[in-house]
Amino acid sequence: MRAQNCDCKVLSHRAVSDTIRLLDVKWEDMAHAPKAGQFYMLRCWRQDEAPLLSRPISVHEWSPDTGVVSFLYEVRGEGTHKLAALLPGDTLNLTGPAGNGWPVDQLLGKKIALVGGGIGTAPLLQLAKELAAAGQKPDLFCGFRDMPYRLEAFAPYCAKVEVATDSGNFGHHGLVTELYDPADYDVICCCGPTPMMKAATKLSLEKGTEILVSLENKMACGIGACLGCTCHTKNKGAISVCKQGPVLKGEDAYG
Ligand code: FES
Repeated sequence: MRAQNCDCKVLSHRAVSDTIRLLDVKWEDMAHAPKAGQFYMLRCWRQDEAPLLSRPISVHEWSPDTGVVSFLYEVRGEGTHKLAALLPGDTLNLTGPAGNGWPVDQLLGKKIALVGGGIGTAPLLQLAKELAAAGQKPDLFCGFRDMPYRLEAFAPYCAKVEVATDSGNFGHHGLVTELYDPADYDVICCCGPTPMMKAATKLSLEKGTEILVSLENKMACGIGACLGCTCHTKNKGAISVCKQGPVLKGEDAYG
């Protein structure tokens, strides 16, 4: 399905922590509804204004009843600083939904662990919601530098929520990969910083458990037209993360 380009209205926008924001927008194009794990290119500045590139941000939550798409993002660069200034009623340009998303149909009937790191937990919420709606609540394991966020959003859709922090101020003091044994699951769905996804992939492959990772590459067009997001994978050669990803098998991404 081709990505659409639409101006959308900001419905609400709030700070979840010092650097994390939750942005709700109205997506009117119901014929092109987003799937869990897909993303949009967001832009609220003119084409001739810096930064040059729109910001790729994954779908955190989507309601087909109301058409509201939620984005959970970290304010850490020029583009996200501009997004952070948006107020309810403002207009935001969205291109998407883009990417392949999580293969929810293939996950049904399997025992699933969701493994997230920091803002990488964002695309796991819609996945948890869709699995729970199919009668199959996953377990969630997430790691944060210090205090966690959005656990309350995950709780209704997960059988178990466990947290690790680098600081030790909340949950287990250590790595998220110390919270679970991949051998207890059929599939691990993972999103977070690259070192964490590589470690999770290694652990899963050692135990013979399938793992899917959602890559967070820099993107330019977001629709497979520029090769700006090319990633050299071990088993599939060069791929466009925005088109053939962002969700890949762990062994294809890292081996
Ligand atoms: Fe342009 Fe992927 S960002 S091809």
